[in-house]
Amino acid sequence: MNVNYSAATRSTALSTAALLLLSSVAIAQAPAQKATPAGNVKNGKKIYTTYGCYQCHGRVAHGGGPAGPRIGPSILNYQAFAAYVRHPKAQMPPYTVKSLSDQEMADIYAYVQTFPKAPDPKTIPLLQD
Ligand code: HEC
Repeated sequence: MNVNYSAATRSTALSTAALLLLSSVAIAQAPAQKATPAGNVKNGKKIYTTYGCYQCHGRVAHGGGPAGPRIGPSILNYQAFAAYVRHPKAQMPPYTVKSLSDQEMADIYAYVQTFPKAPDPKTIPLLQD
């Protein structure tokens, strides 16, 4: 009885410790996930061209190239954008930190976010028939 009791106490203590650890990790990560790093638009424009994003996403990130969708402006927040570029899910080639640094990623993001949103289809008369 005594042994079982202390084993149970120990495992409760352990899982409480694990929970505390997990929640402190979650708290530590939360602010970092929301922040959009400052990017240099001018440099972003340069890399967007030299790193070939334009070949698939178009010169002004409007999409409609051989394959890439519109990414100017991106509908993704910075973290999702960066995650996608590092680990694309389908046709797009991955860009690792070796070929595109985190700062360059921030620069490209700052650049594509300077474009106006695509017009709402409801505001295009030809599409209303
Ligand atoms: C060889 C063509 C190609 C190149 C080069 C390319 N992409 Fe893509 N990208 C795609 C395609 C195709 C998709 C659609 C999803 C897929 O197939 O992976 C995509 C999807 C994306 C998405 C997700 C879009 C969304 O809203 O879901 C982002 C962000 C993106 N690309 C950014 C970039 C950036 C930044 C670069 C340059 C560093 C780049 N891409 C270079 C083809 C390309």
